[in-house]
Amino acid sequence: MTIVNIDDMRDAAKRRLPKIFFDYIDGGSFSESTLRANRRGFDAWTIEQRVLASGRVPDLSTSYFGGRHALPFMLGPVGFLGLYRGGGEVLAARAAAAAAIPFCLSTFSIASIETLARAAGGDLHFQLYMLDDKALNEELLAAATAARVATLYLTVDCTVTAIRERDVRNAFRSARRPTPAMLASMLSRPGWLFDLLRHGMPAVEALKAHPEFGQGALEQAVNLSRRMDRTVSWAEVDWLRGRWPGRLVIKGVLSREDAARARDAGADAIVISNHGGRQLDGVASTISVLPEVVEHVGGTVEVLIDGGFRRGADIVKALALGASGVLLGRAYAFALAAGGEAGVARAIDILRTELAITLALMGLDSIDVLKAAGTSVVRRAPR
Ligand SMILES: Cc1cc2nc3c(=O)[nH]c(=O)nc-3n(C[C@H](O)[C@H](O)[C@H](O)COP(=O)(O)O)c2cc1C
Repeated sequence: MTIVNIDDMRDAAKRRLPKIFFDYIDGGSFSESTLRANRRGFDAWTIEQRVLASGRVPDLSTSYFGGRHALPFMLGPVGFLGLYRGGGEVLAARAAAAAAIPFCLSTFSIASIETLARAAGGDLHFQLYMLDDKALNEELLAAATAARVATLYLTVDCTVTAIRERDVRNAFRSARRPTPAMLASMLSRPGWLFDLLRHGMPAVEALKAHPEFGQGALEQAVNLSRRMDRTVSWAEVDWLRGRWPGRLVIKGVLSREDAARARDAGADAIVISNHGGRQLDGVASTISVLPEVVEHVGGTVEVLIDGGFRRGADIVKALALGASGVLLGRAYAFALAAGGEAGVARAIDILRTELAITLALMGLDSIDVLKAAGTSVVRRAPR
C-alpha cells in the first residue's frame, strides 16, 4: 500500500505490530472521548487563503525551546519505542537528528539516554516521570546531565495512570510475562518478532542496575507504572527547579491557572497536553484551550502543544494560535513501527511537505511570518 499520509502510517503499523502494542499506541483512556476530541478540535478553526501573495518556497525553520530548528514540530516523549521496533529509540532519534529537530526520550524507554547520545546524537531532550524512589530519580537526572541534555520535561498529568481499556483486555502492563493470547498475537507478526529478537530480549537499559524492577521489558513496565510517585505536587516542581540548571518544561498543562503556576514555579516552557487522550477522559481538546492559555501566560512562559497532530494544517493552526512549537506522539510512533528510521523520516517528510504547501497557499513566506500574523490568519469555523 502506498503511504500518502499519517493515517496510512497508522494502518501500516496496525499490519506490522502485535495487537497488544498497536492498541497501546492507538488507544486512549475510558471511553476515548478526549482522544477523539483532540482530532475534532482542529475542525473548529479554518485557515485563511491568500492568493499570489508569496512567490517563494516557504522557510519552515523557527525557534522553540531556546533554539532554532529546521521545522516547527519535533518528536515528543513516547514510551517503549524499542518494543515497536528493535532499537526504536535510536532509530527515531536518528531520524530527528537528520531532520534537525529535537527528540525527547521518555523515562519509559528501552534504550538509555547514554546509548542515544552515543548512537544517535542530535538535540536530545529527556522526559522524567517522578518515581517514588528518590535515588532513582537522581540517577535518571545524572544520566541526562552526563548525556549533555539541556532540556528536561516533567510530565505532570500522569500521577495516577488512567484505565486504558484496550490495555486491560490485552493484559498490557498487568502481565509480567507474555500470556498465551499475547504470544499468539506476537507469533502472528513474524516481521516484528524477528526484528525485535535480532536486537535481543528487550529490557529497560536505565534499570540495568535495578534487578528489583524485574527482568524483561514487560515486567519492568508493570513495576515502573507501580513506582510512579502518586503524591507528586508543586513542591516537587520546586525541588526539580532547584536541582536542574537546564531548561525545565512542564508537560501536561491544560488550564490557565496551572500554566501560570508552572511559570511561577520557574518553568521555562509548558506543553499543553492531555497525554493524547490517554489520561483524564472527558477533558477538552488541547487546541481548544490553547488560545486562553496563551492569552493568560503568553509572553511570560513559552507555550508548546501536543495532541492529535496528524496534518500540516493542524500545525499551522496551533502556531497561529500562539504555540511556539508542536510535539508529535503517535504520528511518529506509528511510522517507527511501520518502517523504522526510514518510516519516521517519511512521516517527518509528509508533514514537512504538507506544511510547505499550506503556507504557500496561505501566501506566507515562513513559519516566523505565520507566527507574527497570529490569529489574523485563522478564524473560528461556522458551527
Ligand atoms: C504509546 C504512547 C506512549 C506515551 N508515553 C509517554 C511517556 O512516556 N511520557 C510522556 O510524557 N508522554 C507520553 N505519551 C504522550 C505523548 O508525549 C503525547 O502527549 C501524546 O502522544 C500526544 O498526542 P498524539 O499521540 O495524538 O499526538 C505517550 C503517548 C503514546 C501514544
